[in-house]
Amino acid sequence: MKISCLVLFFVTNLLGCVHPWLYPCKQISWGIYTVHKRCILDDVVIRTDTELYKIFFPPVELIINSGFIRDFSKAVADRLSKKTTHLTVQFCGVERVFLRDTLEKVILNYNAIDEVRFDSAKDLKVWALHMMSNYLRDVSFVQNMTSLVILNLRSNFIATVSWETFKNLKSLATLELGRNRLKTIDGGDVQLPSLKRLLLDRNRLFSFDLSNANLKQVNELNISSNELLSLNLFNFEKTFPALDTLDISNNPWNCGRRQRLEDWMFLKRVTNQQSNTSEVPCVEDHLQTIALTVPDGTDRLRDDFQRLQYFYYDQLSEQDANQRLSMAKARSGRLQYDLGLLNNSVHTTGQKINHLFRIYNLRASHNMH
Ligand SMILES: *[C@@H]1O[C@H](CO)[C@@H](O)[C@H](O)[C@H]1NC(C)=O
Ligand SMILES: *[C@@H]1O[C@H](CO)[C@@H](O)[C@H](O)[C@H]1NC(C)=O
Ligand SMILES: *[C@@H]1O[C@H](CO)[C@@H](O)[C@H](O)[C@H]1NC(C)=O
Ligand SMILES: *[C@@H]1O[C@H](CO)[C@@H](O)[C@H](O)[C@H]1NC(C)=O
Repeated sequence: MKISCLVLFFVTNLLGCVHPWLYPCKQISWGIYTVHKRCILDDVVIRTDTELYKIFFPPVELIINSGFIRDFSKAVADRLSKKTTHLTVQFCGVERVFLRDTLEKVILNYNAIDEVRFDSAKDLKVWALHMMSNYLRDVSFVQNMTSLVILNLRSNFIATVSWETFKNLKSLATLELGRNRLKTIDGGDVQLPSLKRLLLDRNRLFSFDLSNANLKQVNELNISSNELLSLNLFNFEKTFPALDTLDISNNPWNCGRRQRLEDWMFLKRVTNQQSNTSEVPCVEDHLQTIALTVPDGTDRLRDDFQRLQYFYYDQLSEQDANQRLSMAKARSGRLQYDLGLLNNSVHTTGQKINHLFRIYNLRASHNMH
């Protein structure tokens, strides 16, 4: 439903408003069941010499689709009605933005933002913040935005992220960091109990270890188009126990490691999301496969021994002699099992190395002929 600006102007005047409103709404739409009104504006130009007192944005959802507002300052934000909880400002060359604490859903895609300001993060009510295609390098401004549920920082210039930055965002469900410049993800001791989607595609990740982070709810992970050779599956499985969709495409995987990962995904019924874009071929290098498998094995073993140790402490705290004896018996059984495991891995590693040597010898003798 479209209504000309003139009509709205009269309506606003009838409602007792005296300020002139500079920007005509292109479209006012009503929702199907609710009186959800939106105002769509084009070519909104606000410069430092603009007389802000003349600006009167309507008290509805505001969508500014084009224009030029280099500094979306506190003074500009103050021209918004308190009733405007949803705000979109895109293709407006915004470099700095001020978030008002009346805003709940904010879309600032396709600008040039490298600075986000606000009075007090604790007063912010924003639950959805979309800042795709901007110039952000630093994400620490989100640190105390505890109401965030969706954070979209795709296509920025973010090269480092400390996981600690997100530790207060207990409601965060979607974290979109795709198409940035991340090289590593450091795993702080962070709990993100609500996180469900983690998108890290199109970065430069060559290492990925979030083993100390609690991401037990994450069901969708995208690490496509990075520089990954291998994943430590033991840690990965512990970090992401609820995964059901994983995109690993377009990484220069080591073939053996990729196979292991795909076997694991098959076993765990994790959807192996494969894109049709030209796939980066994996690297066939057996020695590298063995080297890259070692961290998995040692972590698994360390974990086993750690559990054994806890078991031992448990046993010491038991007073009853009978119980202690049976514990000791169980413990030696457990120890035997662990030794068997160790023996097995030594054995298979030995086999693999022998195999490698055979391949190498064959090649060497072939070359001699
Ligand atoms: C977040 O809150 C902490 C503690 O109140 C404060 O030290 C820090 O500067 C705040 N960070 C931001 C980006 O607001
Ligand atoms: C993961 O990211 C890639 C690259 O951006 C994209 O093509 C693919 O569709 C994404 N995968 C999923 C499952 O969304
Ligand atoms: C992807 O490729 C498969 C076969 O390789 C084809 O069946 C499928 O239709 C393709 N999907 C898209 C979206 O192009
Ligand atoms: C170690 O493992 C190999 C092969 O799995 C087996 O033949 C051997 O008996 C094992 N040794 C011990 C001490 O368990």
